[in-house]
This record gives sequence, structure tokens and C-alpha cells, in this order.
Amino acid sequence: MATTKDYRLGEFTYPRGWFMISDAEALNTHKPVAVRFFGQDFALYRGRESGKVILLDAYCPHMKTHLAARNTTSYVVLDGGGSNVEGDGIRCPYHGWRFGSDGKCDDIPYHDGAIPAAAAVKSWKVEERYGAIWVWFDPEGGEPDFPLPTFEDWDDENVVNGKWDYLGELNQHPQEVVDNIADYGHLSPIHGSTVERFENEFKGHNAIQRQCGGHRTLVGEGGASDMLHTDTWYHGPGILVSRVSGMFNSFMMIMHTPIEDGKVKVWHNLLVRTAHGGKPGIADEVAAHQFQEASLLAFAQDFEVWAQKAPCLNPLFIPSDGPFLKARIWYKQFYNPRAKAQDYLDQCEGKYIPKGMIAYTPEPEEAAA
Ligand code: FES
Ligand SMILES: [Fe+2]
Repeated sequence: MATTKDYRLGEFTYPRGWFMISDAEALNTHKPVAVRFFGQDFALYRGRESGKVILLDAYCPHMKTHLAARNTTSYVVLDGGGSNVEGDGIRCPYHGWRFGSDGKCDDIPYHDGAIPAAAAVKSWKVEERYGAIWVWFDPEGGEPDFPLPTFEDWDDENVVNGKWDYLGELNQHPQEVVDNIADYGHLSPIHGSTVERFENEFKGHNAIQRQCGGHRTLVGEGGASDMLHTDTWYHGPGILVSRVSGMFNSFMMIMHTPIEDGKVKVWHNLLVRTAHGGKPGIADEVAAHQFQEASLLAFAQDFEVWAQKAPCLNPLFIPSDGPFLKARIWYKQFYNPRAKAQDYLDQCEGKYIPKGMIAYTPEPEEAAA
């Protein structure tokens, strides 16, 4: 397992950005969930009062009890019907100190005096959207410098929304996952694509890949398109989405979030537009779920390789490969103080086409020729 240092990404161990930390379904009960990301432990729960999702640092400042670890024996948990979530707060199972959604201790059951200001845990900025929970992580502690993206398809009544597929933990540095955005050469051997046009573009917090061509499984007779077109982009370091038109017009979502330095959690989802363009019936839902399975299998083709490969620290790239080195420079902006982001962008922004390939969006003079 290689680390951020090994890839020489920058000053910070974990990148700045929005990250998925849970499927919202995990919070359908009022039990808190213990989660670990960015080398830290957290307590994640849904407030009983507001229904809002709350993420706190896990360890009680009193004597460092985990606020959300499995506990089936403390009377704090038993009296709460199997949960120590109280209102929008959470009560520590050990001595019963209660923390509000802002992370501040607001009750110590055996103490009448003032509650020390230090009796607090950090409360994180989280959002619930697209059936998932998202957190803004910033090693510098700043406010988001780009928003959590809006995916209109999620609210489109002519689109069938998938459930999140959890692919598990991957013992690879996220750099190996992000490399995929520039990986022209793997599309045929791994995914069965016969790529006709391919390009990458790096722009601000987005790394974009556009390509089209035939495909062994994702296009077929009577589909929305006889070629597979994918317009794929990273929105910051951990959110990858792709507008896919093949058998169906669909919107793919792949999320990865660092757990430790060199280890990530990965999720996949697919939103599928109905073939007739209207509201989905049962048959559309069945077709959409089948197409999501196919999309998951396509992603599993990458995942299988990643799970077993050695870290790519000294690659042997050729000019016909995609622009991996530019993609790696783009990725560095998130591992360094945001004041330095522009220095990295100056070295990578622009459009790149592998040697011998044709651009996806031809320049006006090429289009005219
Ligand atoms: S350790 Fe949490 S209340 Fe004592
Ligand atoms: Fe891939």
C-alpha cells in the first residue's frame, strides 16, 4: 500500500473536497453509525428531532469513549430503545454526557455546575442528497471553494434512480482510481470499447474525459444510440460522474473516499432515463436495474485490477497513452494549500488527445474539413 507521500502529491495526506461517506439508507434507524474516513473516527446519526444527518468526531472528550461504537449493554442505550441518540444530540454510553448537533456538551447528568467549554467535539458540515451523505473535508479547515454538484437527473421524473452499490474497501491509494480518467489504453482490453474519439480536458476542479465508439455490451440494436458516448468528469477529487448514452441514456456516479492513507471506500450508482422518454413503468424499472447491473459489471472490471495491482509509482508511459501526468498534476491541487491550486492548474489546464487518436470535440477547422 503506497501513501500520499510515495506519490509526491503534496503537503496534505488527504485531499480537499466533497466526499460521499454513507448511503442514506444506513441511517434509516436512529442508531448511530461508527464510520472512519481521512484517518479519523466519526459518529454519524440522524437526529430524532429534525431528521437531519449529523456527523461528529467520535471520541467523547471526557474519557474518550466512542460515541457511536456498538453498545448493547449501557443503560444509556437500553433506555433509549437501543440508541443513545437523544433529540438531535447523542449521549455518551459511558458517563452519560450529552452532545448537541453542534458538538457542544449540553448535559452532564451528575453535575450541576457550568459545563467546561472544552467539553465539545467537532461537528462536520454534511449534506444529504442523491440518497447519500456527503461531507466537506478540508485540511486547512476552510469553507467549500466549490459546491456539492447538482445532478438534475436525480429529480427528473422520467429517470429511474438506482440504489447505491457498495463495492467495499480498496487497498489502493485514490491516485490509482483517479488515473482512470486519463486511461485511454484500457478502454478496449478492459471494457470492450472500440474507441473512435477520445480526449481529456482539465479545467479548475474538473477533470473531464469525452469519448465515443462501439462497445461489446453497453450498446445494442434498438438502443438509444448505436455508439457508446461517455462524457465523464471529476468534480473535485472524489466525485466522478458520467453522462452515458448507449443502450439507454443514463447518468453514472462513482464515488471514492479515503479511509486511511492508501485505502478508499467505493460506491456506484446509475440513473437511467426511460427508453420512451416518459415516466417509468414497471418494465422501465426492471430494464433500468438490469442496466445498472451491466454498468456495475463494467466498473468491476476496473476494480478487479485495482484490487490486486502494485502501486504505480514509476510508470512507463508512451505517447499513445492518455495524459496521466497532466491528470496527476491536476489532482495535486487538492493535496496542497488552496493558495497554490492555480500553480498546478497553470501546468495542466487544457485539452489533450493521445497520439494517433481523434479529438472528441473537433476544432472548428477540423470539423469543416
Ligand atoms: S467518556 Fe463519555 S461521558 Fe465519560
Ligand atoms: Fe475504466
